Amino acid sequence: MVVLREHILLRHRDIPDIGSLEVYLAHGGYQALAKALRTLSPGQVIELVKASGLRGRGGAGFPTGLKWSFVPQDAPTKYVVVNADESEPGTFKDREIIEGNPHQLLEGTALCAYAIGARVAYIYGRGEFRHLFAGLQRAIDEAYQAGWLGQNIQGSDFSLDVYLHLGAGAYICGEETALLESLEGKLGMPRARPPFPAQVGLYGQPTVVNNVETLANVPPIVRHGPEWYRQFGTERSPGVKIFCLSGCITRPGNYELPLGVPLRVLIEECGGGAPDGRAIQAILPSGASSLLLPGYNPELRLDYESLQAAGAALGSASFVVLDETVDIVWAVSKVIRFFEHESCGKCTPCREGTYWMVDVYRRLLEGRAWPDDVELLLSIADQMDGNCFCALGEFAICPVRSSIQHFRPAYEARLPGRGA
Ligand SMILES: Cc1cc2nc3c(=O)[nH]c(=O)nc-3n(C[C@H](O)[C@H](O)[C@H](O)COP(=O)(O)O)c2cc1C
Ligand code: SF4
Repeated sequence: MVVLREHILLRHRDIPDIGSLEVYLAHGGYQALAKALRTLSPGQVIELVKASGLRGRGGAGFPTGLKWSFVPQDAPTKYVVVNADESEPGTFKDREIIEGNPHQLLEGTALCAYAIGARVAYIYGRGEFRHLFAGLQRAIDEAYQAGWLGQNIQGSDFSLDVYLHLGAGAYICGEETALLESLEGKLGMPRARPPFPAQVGLYGQPTVVNNVETLANVPPIVRHGPEWYRQFGTERSPGVKIFCLSGCITRPGNYELPLGVPLRVLIEECGGGAPDGRAIQAILPSGASSLLLPGYNPELRLDYESLQAAGAALGSASFVVLDETVDIVWAVSKVIRFFEHESCGKCTPCREGTYWMVDVYRRLLEGRAWPDDVELLLSIADQMDGNCFCALGEFAICPVRSSIQHFRPAYEARLPGRGA
C-alpha cells in the first residue's frame, strides 16, 4: 500500500494560497483540462475515469466513469450538478475542498461537463454554506477572467457556465433527486427512480450529479493517468478518500488517506485515540446513515468492501467515535431525532415511523418506558424496512437495529422494573 507523501485533494494543506488561481496554475492547475481539450475526446475522458476505478464519494460509491457513460451522447441539452449539500452528521470534507482548494473542484466540474457534453453546471450547496460560497464565487470569477470557464475555453470549442445555488438547509436535499427538485424551485422531495438523473434529470434533461470530493479527484486522474491513481487504495476501492473523524477522539478533523488503510491508522495515528486513553465502545462509520460498528477492530480495512463485510457501510466516511462514557441509547436517540426532523414527509413509513421511534426513545430516556418498548422499536423498524420511498427512511432504522443487536442490555436496563 502506497502512503501519501502529499495531499491529492486537500492540497491547500501543503501549498499555501492554492485557493488563488495564480498559485493553482503554478502547481499544475488546469493542466488536466488543457490536456483534455487539446488531446482527448470526451469519450476518452470517460474511459480514463472508468479505468481509474473512481467511485462516488457522496455515499453510494457508484462508479463515476460508468455514471458519466449513461448520459445519452446525442441529447441536445445536458447538465452537471455538483452535490455540495453535505448535510450528513459528522461530514465536513466537502466544505474544506470548497474553502481551501476550490479550483480543483471547478476543474473537475469542467472535465465532467466536457466528458458528457454539458454546457451548464450548477453547484448546489446547503444553506449554511453561504459564507463558503462567497469564496467559491470569487474562484469562479477568477476562472472566467482567465478563460478557464465561459465561452470557448482556452480557444477551444468547449464552453461552460457555472452557477452557484444555495438550498435552505434540508438534509433530504442531498439526495440527488430531491436536490434536482429543489434546484428547479420545487419542494425538496425525492423523485421516483427510474428514470435516473443520467437519463431524466434537471429540467427533464440528462444530468450527472456528483459529489464535491468525487469531482475533485478527476483533475489528478486525467493529468497523471489511471495507473498513477490506482497505486493508491485497493484493487476494488482505488484512490484516496477524505475521512471525517469526530466524536470522542483526541484530534478530530479531516484526514486524507489511501482507501484500504487499517482503522488503526485513522483512529490512533491520525486521531490520537479516544481522550484520556478511554476504550472505544462503538463507531458510526458513515455519520448517521449506517449500522453501528460495535467495539474497535484496529485491523478493519477502510474500503467499501471491508466495511460492507463488517455489516456497515463506508458511505461518506464520516467516523463518529463513541467511547465507553457514552450512553448508547441516548446517542441513538439523537440520531433518530435527526431523521425525524429531516424526514420530508412524502411517505408514511418514514414520516410516521421516525416520529414513533422518537416517542419511544423519549420514554426510554425519561424513565417512562413501557415493558415492550424494545420490541416496539424493532417492530417499527421492520415495518419501515423496504417500504420507504427513499434511502433516508432506510438509513433511520440502521442505528436502531444495530444498537439493539449489540447493546441490548443498555436498552433493557431502562425497562420498568429493570433498574433505571
Ligand atoms: C438522504 C440522503 C442524503 C444525501 N446527502 C448527500 C450529500 O449531502 N452530499 C452528497 O454528495 N450526496 C448525498 N447523498 C447521495 C446522493 O443521492 C448521490 O448519490 C450523490 O450525490 C452522487 O454523487 P457521487 O456519485 O459523486 O457520490 C445523499 C443521499 C441520501 C439518500
Ligand atoms: S423515506 Fe422519508 S425522506 Fe424519503 S421520501 Fe419518504 S418521508 Fe421523505
